[in-house]
Amino acid sequence: MAKVKTSYFCQHCGTQYAKWQGQCSSCKSWNTIVEELIQKEEKSPWKSQEQHGGKKASKPLKIDEISAFEEHRMCSGNAELDRVLGGGIVPGSVVLLGGEPGIGKSTLLLQIALRLPYKTLYVSGEESQAQIKMRAERIVPNSEHCYILTETKTQHIFKQIQDISPDILIVDSIQTLHSDYIESAAGSISQIRECTAELIKFAKETGTPVILIGHITKDGNIAGPKILEHMVDTVLQFEGDRNYVYRILRSLKNRFGSTAELGIYEMQSDGLREVSNPSEILISQSDEALSGTAIAATLEGMRPLMIEIQALVSTAVYGTPQRSTTGYNAKRLNMLLAVLEKRAGFRLGAKDVFLNITGGISVDDPALDLAVVAAILSSNEDIAVEKDICFAAEIGLAGEIRPVQRVEQRVLEAEKLGFSTIFISAQNKIVSENRNIRIVRVARIEDIISDLFG
Ligand code: TYD
Ligand code: MG
Repeated sequence: MAKVKTSYFCQHCGTQYAKWQGQCSSCKSWNTIVEELIQKEEKSPWKSQEQHGGKKASKPLKIDEISAFEEHRMCSGNAELDRVLGGGIVPGSVVLLGGEPGIGKSTLLLQIALRLPYKTLYVSGEESQAQIKMRAERIVPNSEHCYILTETKTQHIFKQIQDISPDILIVDSIQTLHSDYIESAAGSISQIRECTAELIKFAKETGTPVILIGHITKDGNIAGPKILEHMVDTVLQFEGDRNYVYRILRSLKNRFGSTAELGIYEMQSDGLREVSNPSEILISQSDEALSGTAIAATLEGMRPLMIEIQALVSTAVYGTPQRSTTGYNAKRLNMLLAVLEKRAGFRLGAKDVFLNITGGISVDDPALDLAVVAAILSSNEDIAVEKDICFAAEIGLAGEIRPVQRVEQRVLEAEKLGFSTIFISAQNKIVSENRNIRIVRVARIEDIISDLFG
């Protein structure tokens, strides 16, 4: 019997401690440290000989001496996924796909597995082979290369891999796996870390790409240690409103490509359809343009995001006009109203102004300013802003339109989502102007008034 050891892990950041303590000294969160049973690892199937026996140390080479082999990519046959990955699946890479339950992660990967021109092993710890077969029949009637395995123990999975020797491995999901070398329950931090480490080792040593599905927690992070995202090569997120049929595949991290790309899918009764022309989403939703709404190209952390801003300007009933915001900073609204009054001559002082960011999200990005002003003016004048126009600029106290950071990424997102025009600051520099989107540069708040409502 191997000796059983326990250790303490922060459930938030994954830091390991020898003793329990109330606060994690690494991420400062309280009551997140729990005891977990671990057993010191002996050997796992993909720990190479060199590591056990005599260590073979790597030598430094001059960068000129290193031959950069022409990076070969495996085409998944799914254009949206290939684009998000930066041109296909890189051999030996480990991709983590996160997303809310029921959003379609299993459907997406099963569909890709069925259409792959390579020998694929789809390991599921969540559904039985019969269930997967039923789902597969809805999506693709037959596939020659796809093997389905229902297994949760990594050692058994590796045994099957040795027999089948697949070209691609898909695991649904990393939270259901468990390794013999760790005694804590599947889904715990130490299990997730160990199973991922084994799979990464397998991927790097054999050059087989591995795609993992990861569950997310209620605050939107991938369940398990934060370190998981550092360990893998690529982190993808599958998102969308479950009440709508559209799903967006984004890359949050990619060692082999840009994270600015996104893929759009439509959930249908026979699987996910790739949406190659995203403007159809906008057109289908906008039957008529309404006054008082404008769309802003914002960034949420690293990710570009298009959000709709709604404003309502009406005559105040009481002596003191109301200013009310949902999801937006009320002080910032007051500032923008003052700028409009002083610099553009709009008498909004006697009007109620309500501002709402749709979708129930709260955004704190100065690039929202121009869209907020456009929405307010649109409501005030009762003239709609065209649905395919969006905005990304900050407004200064002098009424000047100021540049925003990472404008290229916002323009790219707007273009991808099918917008025809984006308003940005005249001072923002854009390297490649050759785009399918009209870029309107504005310098002062008056310019936008003449451009939009002129
Ligand atoms: P699933 O892939 O099981 O989600 P996840 O793995 O992310 O939890 O997706 C389940 C949803 O997808 C389910 O609500 C039904 C829907 N769906 C379709 O609309 N069409 C289909 O062809 C399939 C297979 C699923
Ligand atoms: Mg699933």
